[in-house]
Amino acid sequence: MSEFLEIVGGTTLRGTVRAGGAKNAGLPLLIATLLTPEPCTITNVPNLTDTSLVIHLLEQFGAEVDYDGDEVRVHTPRLLASEASYSLVKALRASFWVLAPLLARGGAARVALPGGDLIGARPVDLHLEGLTKMGAEISLKHGVVLASAPHGLKPAQIDLRYPSVGATHQLLMAAALTPGCTTITGCAREPEIVAMAELLGRMGASVQGAGTPVVEVRGEGQLRGATVDLIGDRIEAGTYLLAGVITGGEVTVEGVSPTFFGSFLDILREMNIEVSTTEASVTVRCAGPVRGVHVKTGPFPELATDLQAPLMAALATAEGSSSIEETVYEGRFSHVSELARLGAKITVRERTVAIEGVKKLAGAPVDGLDIRAAASLVLAALAAEGRSEIHEIHHLRRGYEHVERKLGSLGARVWSRMSDPDDFIFAGC
Ligand code: UD1
Repeated sequence: MSEFLEIVGGTTLRGTVRAGGAKNAGLPLLIATLLTPEPCTITNVPNLTDTSLVIHLLEQFGAEVDYDGDEVRVHTPRLLASEASYSLVKALRASFWVLAPLLARGGAARVALPGGDLIGARPVDLHLEGLTKMGAEISLKHGVVLASAPHGLKPAQIDLRYPSVGATHQLLMAAALTPGCTTITGCAREPEIVAMAELLGRMGASVQGAGTPVVEVRGEGQLRGATVDLIGDRIEAGTYLLAGVITGGEVTVEGVSPTFFGSFLDILREMNIEVSTTEASVTVRCAGPVRGVHVKTGPFPELATDLQAPLMAALATAEGSSSIEETVYEGRFSHVSELARLGAKITVRERTVAIEGVKKLAGAPVDGLDIRAAASLVLAALAAEGRSEIHEIHHLRRGYEHVERKLGSLGARVWSRMSDPDDFIFAGC
């Protein structure tokens, strides 16, 4: 038996939903709690598969974790291990980010190298080069990164050739627990990086410039416990806004700052969507036909690659032609063939997709093969005539809490179902 979502499309969505805490802030912030022997509390944590995986990971290193409602309290008085296995890193890529706290606090770490995945090659060279500059001795053996800093890490000047989110998180964590001033240029500027800086600041480090390309960290030899409230999830929020767009409705998402979206809201305006904002909410309203656009993904504040697939669904029924160039991950197109099953007209050439808007999509069974691909198929199914089934939704569950309830509150007809084991399609040899 496996779970799928049944969606009967064609309803115009209207109403207000609240964004949950940002998964992509929650994972690194929970990992950062390993930097201190004192208790830390993180609130507004979404109840997702990825959250459970990171808690399991922390427990491997000796953390006592108390998860109550949306509040997670982590206390790691001593690091009891220094190794993260391939099974952990494979289940959750962000597990690789334990490298910095283990190294900075314990002086040694053995962390399995994450491989590529469905969306791209995803190397970690920038993480390793930065830590090497801070004095870590790093080697690779049998797919495992062996890192040691027997005399501690040292402050350094590090230049990131590309604003990698993960490398920026790693180096901020390492620098926070390294006495002296580390300067990192070419940093990622995502709101989740600002959230990391906020936590590290509360733990006792001084972090200046987060959210700009140059961040200066004055680290300490010991960090204290801290409490922080997670920022709202801009990717989840963007997905619900696009649910309003694709169904021609009016949707407000609360609990997220409009400043978190970078160019996304401007792209919606270019699509002829009315966008209005308050300090902590965004509303979209379709006042006329949705128009096609030509856009590309990129590091913040450019269009987030995590919104590429959901945006593509909305463009599938927009007037005229559109294109999206994916500059971040070379292989992030698993949703294209599934959107085609719903009637979308999309062609891929290298890293660019061309979309010819169609008047109507038609419901069908489809597979959501990664978290955002699954979200795009949910959106397309909401607009499609008739009934769709979205399979492989364990991917969707990694990033979207209460998705049926939230979409249902906007008027969508969405149900979680279990597949009948006798109901299979012979797929050939
Ligand atoms: C994070 C997000 C992910 C998002 C991505 C880009 C989390 C848990 N995940 O992933 O949802 O899609 O940011 O916004 O927050 N790169 C290198 N060398 C490196 C590191 C990265 O070449 O050492 C390349 C990658 O291959 C990729 C690009 O940089 O092409 C972006 O990767 P990065 O920003 O590191 O993404 P993640 O932190 O893994």
